[in-house]
Amino acid sequence: MKVTIFGSGYVGLVTGACLAEVGNDVLCVDVDERKIDLLKAGGVPIYEPGLEEMVRKNTAAGRLSFTTDVAAGVAHGLFQFIAVGTPPDEDGSADLQYVLAVARSIGEHMEDYRIVVDKSTVPVGTADKVRQALAGVLESRGRNLEFDVVSNPEFLKEGAAIDDFMRPDRIVVGTDNPRTAELLRVLYGPFNRNHDRLVMMDIRSAELTKYAANAMLATKISFMNEMSALAEKLGADVEAVRRGIGADPRIGYHFIYPGCGYGGSCFPKDVKALIHTGRSVGHAPAVLEAVEAVNDRQKAVLHDKLKAHFGDLAGRTIAVWGLAFKPNTDDMREAPSRVLMEALWADGATVRAHDPVAMEECERIYGERPDLVLCATPEEAAEGADALALVTEWNLFRSPDFQALREIMKSPVVFDGRNVYDPQRMADEGFIYHAIGRPE
Ligand code: UGA
Repeated sequence: MKVTIFGSGYVGLVTGACLAEVGNDVLCVDVDERKIDLLKAGGVPIYEPGLEEMVRKNTAAGRLSFTTDVAAGVAHGLFQFIAVGTPPDEDGSADLQYVLAVARSIGEHMEDYRIVVDKSTVPVGTADKVRQALAGVLESRGRNLEFDVVSNPEFLKEGAAIDDFMRPDRIVVGTDNPRTAELLRVLYGPFNRNHDRLVMMDIRSAELTKYAANAMLATKISFMNEMSALAEKLGADVEAVRRGIGADPRIGYHFIYPGCGYGGSCFPKDVKALIHTGRSVGHAPAVLEAVEAVNDRQKAVLHDKLKAHFGDLAGRTIAVWGLAFKPNTDDMREAPSRVLMEALWADGATVRAHDPVAMEECERIYGERPDLVLCATPEEAAEGADALALVTEWNLFRSPDFQALREIMKSPVVFDGRNVYDPQRMADEGFIYHAIGRPE
């Protein structure tokens, strides 16, 4: 089938590559010429395991191509995916200007029936706005063409996006037209194996499903972070509590890992946007507000612990292991590492940091500064450090040579923001060890 994808960012690119992989003819459109040139040359602007190979293979096979030509994009696909960004406005609501601009472009150039698929994470009611924007342009052109708007939110995890797309838990499709529903069923057929993973519903419910999923996951994390704070005060071990509650299948083991807070491009933004939506319809979203407040507090937890240990941090050198908001990505959006580093800098401390893939991104964000030393290895980052803070649980950090580490650090103090290490082992190795919600 012919598919056009507007927006060659994270979601658009993964969607385009995976739809091409199963044999569709996919054209990706983006306004960013540099990005399109890079993609045409076989490069991929983001770090995502498996994506570059998939893009190259399908581009070479002629099933995946890239353009900045919007008219060509509208002419190409029966399906017109909108996968452009929805950055938060100052008030936390999602900014729809890019989504609506695509809708208008489709209206300007379409000559035939089109299915417009909202893939971007958009607030409830956006499909209606897309429909209005597109219909408005058609009307001004004096054209009476048929089209449908579908909500088809994505549930990809960064770092596992290809696998999530190829083997989805569920595919949510919101539409009010049974014929469109059937066409989407065909498009998603190759990914809909073993049992029916398509969850068909009305458009508004599909839009809310996306936010509800992320908000529920964020709630689990904030809940556990709250438990970790309680465990610390009460002399309990949150890791034991986690295993104890996870065994109940109604709770489950997933997403109950306490840590130094959730980050990334989705949870913080989506929780904020849903709070905003709630308020805008006269509902006080008490749970969501608490989820966000707990996360803000949690992102400060490593700094709080460092301060409690050292008192004044001016002139101290702190090693930071992990800059990305989670492993297997170079994404530092809303990353807990940023909150920690910025607080340390404000105190007059120096950061020596290592991340397996996010160091370029870190440099892009912060530039060169005397109180940030980006180090080629984790060991180099730890050299001469007063303390080590583990912020992202990359595998590389899981089993360091503790003896060597102790020798190169100025003092053997470890703050583990992801509860990666065993407290007993750390004590045996001669470290002063602080974790999240665990006895010291
Ligand atoms: C999240 C969702 O998991 C995806 O299903 C969704 O499609 C995506 O947002 C999106 O809306 O696009 P992602 O942001 O890539 O995916 O990252 P996650 O793996 O969900 O992790 C988010 C954050 O939560 C990370 O900072 C991670 O360290 C933290 N986390 C996760 C915890 O602190 N504890 C946990 O138990 C799990």
